[in-house]
Amino acid sequence: MTSPLVVAIDGPSGSGKSSTSRGVADRLKLAYLDTGAMYRAMTWALLRAGVDLSDPAAVAAAAERVTLSSGTDPLAPTIHVDGTDVAAPIRSDEVTGSVSLVAAVPHVRELLVDLQRAAIADSDGIVVEGRDIGSVVAPDAQVKIYLVADPAARAARRAAENGSTDAAATEAALAARDQIDSTRTASPLKKADGAIVVDGTHLTLDEVIETIVGLVGERS
Ligand code: DC
Repeated sequence: MTSPLVVAIDGPSGSGKSSTSRGVADRLKLAYLDTGAMYRAMTWALLRAGVDLSDPAAVAAAAERVTLSSGTDPLAPTIHVDGTDVAAPIRSDEVTGSVSLVAAVPHVRELLVDLQRAAIADSDGIVVEGRDIGSVVAPDAQVKIYLVADPAARAARRAAENGSTDAAATEAALAARDQIDSTRTASPLKKADGAIVVDGTHLTLDEVIETIVGLVGERS
């Protein structure tokens, strides 16, 4: 039996990973997993439980008690914490400002990587987006993409998503989060061995999707 197709899409915040990954999954009739949403949902749960996020031991212990579940339809992805739909609150500034702290705790990563591998194993083919998919979660993925864009383009996209008019502040916040994500000890953001770099700075969303669908066709 051949193993199911896994397309790993990694890259920094605001590179367009989510829209791209959903679009690729929809085009290829694959499932879709947003691992960033899982780190955000864990952060939401720990904030709600009053856990001190600056204490990695407390974070690791409390994370054990959180039950996350992700729905993998690219047209209607879902994320629940202990049965509560958290799709909206995980995008709050409070969660966005704290998630890098939680994602840096190795035991949190172990717990979530186990869930991510289970979702991959359960699928008949899947697009998985995140920071460490091609390097750690699915190093045997048939296709690994590292999606990048210029900082100004990423900030403009994020500001538009958030309804913010302050692109400079958004760019500074993105840079701060990238700095933490790429310098942490546990699975830092980096291009995986064998990943193909796709630069979306001067491409439309459809062009990025088309490029990746073409690469999947060549490689699977
Ligand atoms: O893609 P996003 O902005 O929703 O990700 C939220 C945070 O989760 C981001 O700061 C990095 C972290 N993350 C991670 O460490 N590993 C992943 N596979 C996905 C996200």
